[in-house]
This record gives sequence, C-alpha cells and structure tokens, in this order.
Amino acid sequence: MTRPLDHLLVTGGAGFIGSAFIRAVFRRLGFAGRVVNLDKLTYAGNPANLIGHVPDDGRYTFVHGDIGDQALVERLLAEHDIQCVVHFAAESHVDRSIYGPKEFLQTNVMGTFSLLEACRARHAAGKPIHLHHVSTDEVFGSLGDDGFFDEETRYDPRSPYSASKAASDHLVRAYAHTYHLSTTLSNCSNNYGPYHFPEKLIPLMILNCLDGKPLPVYGDGQNIRDWLYVDDHAEAIWLILNKAASDTSWNVGGRNEWKNLDLLHKLIEVVAVEAGRDVRELRKLITFVKDRPGHDRRYAIDASRIERELGWRARHDFGSGIVETVRWYLQNPRWVQDMKSGAYKSWLDTNYAAR
Ligand code: NAD
Ligand code: TYD
Repeated sequence: MTRPLDHLLVTGGAGFIGSAFIRAVFRRLGFAGRVVNLDKLTYAGNPANLIGHVPDDGRYTFVHGDIGDQALVERLLAEHDIQCVVHFAAESHVDRSIYGPKEFLQTNVMGTFSLLEACRARHAAGKPIHLHHVSTDEVFGSLGDDGFFDEETRYDPRSPYSASKAASDHLVRAYAHTYHLSTTLSNCSNNYGPYHFPEKLIPLMILNCLDGKPLPVYGDGQNIRDWLYVDDHAEAIWLILNKAASDTSWNVGGRNEWKNLDLLHKLIEVVAVEAGRDVRELRKLITFVKDRPGHDRRYAIDASRIERELGWRARHDFGSGIVETVRWYLQNPRWVQDMKSGAYKSWLDTNYAAR
C-alpha cells in the first residue's frame, strides 16, 4: 500500500497523543514532509507541547481553529495540498462527558462529520485524500474477567464519551462505504506518558503525590485498564498510514492490564524513589471516593492483528515507561503550572467539590 503522505493535516495536534504523533514523525520516523496542526486549544491543548520538537523551516504550521469549521478545513486542504488527515481532535475525558456531554457530541460527532464532508469534497474534486480516525477501545463497552476486544467485537459504548466516539467511528466507515473515501481507523487502549493532561488517572496521581493531596480512587479500585506508552501508539498510527488498506480498522494495546489500585501502588513506589518521598506517607493519601457513574469494569485489547499484519510491537515496557513519565513530570513543573492555572482548575474545583 502506498499513499501520498507528504502533506499532513493533523487535528488536535496540541493535545497529549496528537503532539506525541507530531514529535514522533519529525524526530524519530524520518518524515521529510509538512504538517499543518489544526487545534482549537481547549483546556487540553497546549502548543508548547511542540516547542523545540518541530522544524522551523516552514514544514510545520499551527492553525488555531475548530474542526467543525468546514470552510476553514476545506481551505486548509486546498492551500496546503493536504493528502492525509490524521484526526486526533476530540473531547477525551469520560468524567467531563458525564457532567457535560454536549461538547462531546459537538466536537466528536459533528466535528468529525465536518471533517469528513471537507474530505469528501476534496475526493469528489479528484484530489488524493485519506483520513485516519483515532479512536478508543471504549467503544466496545466493558469486559468481564476474561476475553479481549478484537476488531470484530460488537460496539457497546456506555459513557457519553464512548458513545460519541462510536458515532464518529460509524460515520467514518459509512463515508468509506458510501462515497469510497479512503479511510483507516484505530481503536487504542489507555495511553500514558509525558504531556498527559493532569485530569487523567496517571498524571493526576503523580501530581497529587508530589503535592501531598488525596489520591482519589473511584469505587473499589478494582477496575482494569490496559496501558500503552503514548509513543507506541504514535508509531502504530504511522504504520497504519503507511501500510494499511483503506476501510480497515486496527486495535492497538499494550497487553498491560492493571487494576487501578495496583497501578496506584506501583506509581507511589516510583514517585517515592524518583522524588525522594516516604512511601508510607504517600500511601496514606489513598482515598476511596464515590464511583464514577456507569464506570466500565475492564478494558483489554487483543492487538495480534496489527502485530501480525503490520509488524507493530509495543516497544516500551511498563516498568521503564512509568519511570520515564514520573521523571518528566518532575522535570517540567512549568508545564504543569501552566496547565493547572487554566480552565481545568476551575472545572476541577467545581466538579470535585460537588461529588
Ligand atoms: P486530549 O484531550 O489531550 O487532546 C485533544 C486535543 O484536541 C486538544 O489539543 C484540544 O485542544 C483539541 N480539540 C478539542 N476540540 C477541538 C475542536 N473542536 N477542533 C480542533 N481541536 C480540538 O486528547 P488525547 O488524549 O490526546 O486523545 C486524542 C485522541 O485519541 C482522541 O480522539 C481520543 O478519543 C483518542 N484516544 C485517546 C486515548 C487516551 O488514553 N488518551 C486512548 C485511545 C484513543
Ligand atoms: P481515566 O484516566 O479517566 O481514563 P478512562 O476513564 O478513559 O479509562 O481513568 C482510568 C481509570 O482510573 C478509570 O477506571 C477511572 C479511574 N480513576 C480513578 O480511580 N480516580 C481518578 O481520579 C481518575 C481520574 C480515574
């Protein structure tokens, strides 16, 4: 499979995974082309995530805008002769989707629809255009004690976030089927690593340990997630872009399942060593709080298809990945401060105070 990939439009490239993807293509994956990064800069987007990591020779352009602005996207596709859209932009946090689902429908469903329409217009004009849609394993619902999600698993989304991502997945497939738009799709497990916004479990717990704040464990702490280092996800997407046929979807995961409480104990040990803290004092911060409504019990990905057919492997083992992550947060207090002083902080105060 060869598709032109010299001119990329990345959506949501100032967020956690999108910025990891842009850093990866320029720094590690030998990409010699151009990237336009379209990002609305919600509370989760920070263009500083790319400072020093992108070329300054005109091959990288940042555009502040909304994926739902179809005229803007059509203009970007034409002006930059875009051949491929790598679509990360989304509202991405389950808790926020529970307290305010509207933005999730707006960006994840209607925004993806607008992007698809802009791509369809380009395709109809005879220009080469491909769209890769970055999605989540949460569209498959919740697993019991055994079994894994594979590419044939039936969709069963159970939170407003996962329902909005499922809707966008269906739209992408519908455009491939109906309009013969070239598309690919990936459903990935939970990511972790540097630049992760500190509302998600791992960065929140690291920072609360450092600040001596309570470590809020939802419910009994026995829910299971399958954690993948963010750079491994970025590399999976790059492989899919380069090798996968149109209208295919790929499950990506770390074969790395952790119960939340066990993960927290592991994190506490790493923070204690890396930050020179007393492990017993950190353990005392663990606080069981009211469970998340509709909290999915277990996610676990069977990634054998992408391993077998595209030769992908997760290269980071969890032991070293988590140490690297903790060190990154210790070394980047300025980034943490900037993120915390934004809209995120007032949201957190309002919503956690109410629970
Ligand atoms: P994130 O919340 O860190 O970043 C999202 C980015 O999208 C931000 O930069 C934000 O400013 C931007 N954005 C939001 N709405 C926008 C809009 N309307 N127009 C333009 N830009 C907009 O999210 P993330 O964790 O990097 O996730 C990226 C993608 O990967 C999402 O589609 C998410 O569903 C998917 N995903 C995430 C995980 C995970 O563990 N974080 C796992 C699997 C899949
Ligand atoms: P999160 O990082 O929000 O990702 P997702 O909900 O998309 O899997 O949460 C990961 C797990 O950690 C999930 O089971 C919810 C739990 N959790 C807590 O126990 N406490 C917290 O403060 C957060 C944010 C999450």
